[in-house]
Amino acid sequence: MAKISAGVATSHVPAIGAAIDNKKTTDAYWQPLFEGYEYVKQWVKEQKPDVVVLVYNDHASAFDANFVPTFAIATGAEFKPADEGWGPRPVPNVQGHPALASHIAHSVIQDDFDLTVVNTMDVDHGLTVPLSLVFGEPENWPCKVIPIAVNVVLYPVPSGNRCYQLGKAIRKAVENFDEDLNVQIWGTGGMSHQLQGPRAGLINKEFDNAFLDKIIDDADELAKLEHIKYVEQAGSEGIELVMWLVMRGALNKNVELKKRFYHVPASNTAVGHLVLENVEEEG
Ligand code: DHB
Ligand code: FE
Repeated sequence: MAKISAGVATSHVPAIGAAIDNKKTTDAYWQPLFEGYEYVKQWVKEQKPDVVVLVYNDHASAFDANFVPTFAIATGAEFKPADEGWGPRPVPNVQGHPALASHIAHSVIQDDFDLTVVNTMDVDHGLTVPLSLVFGEPENWPCKVIPIAVNVVLYPVPSGNRCYQLGKAIRKAVENFDEDLNVQIWGTGGMSHQLQGPRAGLINKEFDNAFLDKIIDDADELAKLEHIKYVEQAGSEGIELVMWLVMRGALNKNVELKKRFYHVPASNTAVGHLVLENVEEEG
């Protein structure tokens, strides 16, 4: 059977992608950030996931105000990097896993989550920057990727609790898939940032670090945090953090923390990153 072995959380700042693509990772500004991702790069080579279920948000690249699914799963075989105004990033196309994605869609919809099923879509920095941070610059991405898009761009957005419960439903679906697959779940976006209005540039280190503490050890409590508190404390784009709760919901209650990293700033954003391994549950 398929199994979720681990979770990864990371911010997805587009300027990080540009720094990689333009060979600036050793510049003084960027070096401390990329150093924080050395661990996961080695770790993932040992873990060798077959599939990553990658929870991210589209930034009006595949969807726009005409059409905004709260949750969408991509069941296609291949996804191209989106052109976000400067041409598509020079990264490989993303290979999907149509059989597992369709299975997850079926199972999760039967568990009362209304996922929109998407066959064709381009994937933006929300998905490709995390892939670059973890896998570096390979010729081809070393595993299949199932994109799960969460609307955190146009109100109303889903609550943290809804995201957490969706993670649990995804886990159940994966564990009922009849093929031996090593599956990881990644949650992306955040941490605190606001890109617009009078509070543009907002960073809240205290909130971010409390969020990191809680998502590791007290996710049930964290899931109760109302969406408006994210906006108030982590900024209008800090609401992206609810996607980390999808990741956490798909893992066991007990996890082993392999890496915790926090760095300010990258562009306008506080960068957070976690690597969590599932601890076998008793019984
Ligand atoms: C930035 C961060 C984001 O999450 C994003 O989607 C776009 C820009 C930034 O910090 O510049
Ligand atoms: Fe974003």
